Amino acid sequence: MLKIVSVVGARPQFIKAAAVSRVLKSAEGVNEILVHTGQHYDANMSHVFFEELEIPRPDYNLGIGSGTHGAQTGKMLEAIEKVLLEEKPDWVLVYGDTNSTLAGALAAVKLHIPVAHVEAGLRSFNRHMPEEINRVLTDHASDLLFAPTKTAVMNLRHEGIPEERIKLVGDVMYDAALFYGKKAELQSQILNKLGLKPKEYVLATVHRAENTDDPVRLKVIFDALCEIAGEIKVVLPLHPRTREALIKSAMYDKVASSICLTEPVGYLDMVMLEKNARLIATDSGGVQKEAFFYRVPCVTLREETEWVELVELGWNFLTSPISKETIIAGIRYNYINHDRSEHYPYGKGNSAEKVLHFLLK
Ligand code: UD1
Ligand code: UDP
Repeated sequence: MLKIVSVVGARPQFIKAAAVSRVLKSAEGVNEILVHTGQHYDANMSHVFFEELEIPRPDYNLGIGSGTHGAQTGKMLEAIEKVLLEEKPDWVLVYGDTNSTLAGALAAVKLHIPVAHVEAGLRSFNRHMPEEINRVLTDHASDLLFAPTKTAVMNLRHEGIPEERIKLVGDVMYDAALFYGKKAELQSQILNKLGLKPKEYVLATVHRAENTDDPVRLKVIFDALCEIAGEIKVVLPLHPRTREALIKSAMYDKVASSICLTEPVGYLDMVMLEKNARLIATDSGGVQKEAFFYRVPCVTLREETEWVELVELGWNFLTSPISKETIIAGIRYNYINHDRSEHYPYGKGNSAEKVLHFLLK
C-alpha cells in the first residue's frame, strides 16, 4: 500500500487537491491521509469546498489559523512534523505556493520523506511576493516536481533541478474546471440570487498582499473598479484580507455603495460567475486561468504573472495597479473582442491521473 500524506490549508489548495484526491481515491493500493493546516478556517474559505467538491474529511486538522509569516509557518512545521512521524508516509504531496505548501515540504524533507509538488516551477521573479519565496524553496526541497506548463519546466531547468525530477503533467485546476464546471451549471443559483444577466457584469477579485497591504495600490484598484461600476455592474466576492484592508483604510462604505460586494462564494458559484462575466479583473492566480478556461477576457491587476501563456495568447492583459487610468483603460479595451488565439497550454484535463502515475512509479 502506497501511503500519501497530502497537505492543504488555503482555498486554492482545496480545489487542486479535490481534483487529485478524486483520482487517488479511485486507485487501488493507495491510501491518502489528508492534513488541513487550518490556514483558512472561515466556513466560506474552507468548509464549503470540502462539501461541494466532495473532498474527504481531513484526517488531521491542525487548526493553525492566521499569523505573521514566521509564526504561521513555524507552527505548521512543528504540527506537520508530528503527523509525519506518526504516519510515516511514502510521499508528502503539497500544492501551489502558500505557507502551508512550504511548511509541508520542509517538514517532510527534513525527515527524509520524499516530497511531490503539484504546480511546480511557476515564477513571477518578484521576490517581494511571499508566494515566490514559498515556490522556490518548495521546488528545491522536492523530489518530484509536477509542472503545469512548459514555461514552468524551463524555469526549473534554469535553476538546475535535475531533469528526472521534473514531470510536465498539465494543470490540475483545468481537471477541476472540466469536472466541476458541469456541476456548477446544474446547481448554482448565484446569477438569480444577485440579479445578474450573462455578459452584463464584470467579475473582480482582489487579495494579493502587495495590493491589499499597500494603501496606495488598494486605493488605485478600488477607485478604478468604482469608476467602472458607473458603466457596468461590478461583482466582487470579498476575501477577508481585503475586507480588513478596506475597513482599515476607511474605504469600505464608499466601495460597498458602488460595487456589488459579496462574501467569498463557494467554487460552484464562482465558476458560474466566471463563465457568465463579460470580463474578469483579478490579482488571483487561479482566477486568471479559470477566465481562460471559460474563454472570458481577463485583466490582471499586477505587474507580472506566472501564467505567461495567457498574456501571449491575448486572453490576459496585465495592468499595473499604480494608476487608476491604466486599469480603467485596460478594462475598457478588453470589453471588445480582439484576436485571441485558441490553444491548450494546460494539458487535457487528465493531469491528476499523470500525478498518480508518477507517484506509483
Ligand atoms: C493565502 C496565500 C496566498 C493565496 C491565498 C488564497 C500565503 C503566504 N498566502 O493568502 O498565496 O493566494 O491564501 O486565498 O500563504 N482570514 C480570515 N479567515 C480565513 C482566512 C484568512 O479572516 O479563513 C484573514 C485573516 O485576517 C488573515 C488574512 O485573512 O490574517 C490573510 O490570511 P492568510 O492565510 O495569511 O493569507 P491570504 O491572504 O489568505
Ligand atoms: N474562488 C472561490 N470563491 C471565491 C473566490 C475564489 O471559489 O470567492 C476560487 C477560484 O474559482 C479559484 C480559487 O478560488 O479556483 C482561487 O483562489 P484564490 O484567488 O484565493 O488564490 P490564488 O489562486 O491567487 O492563489
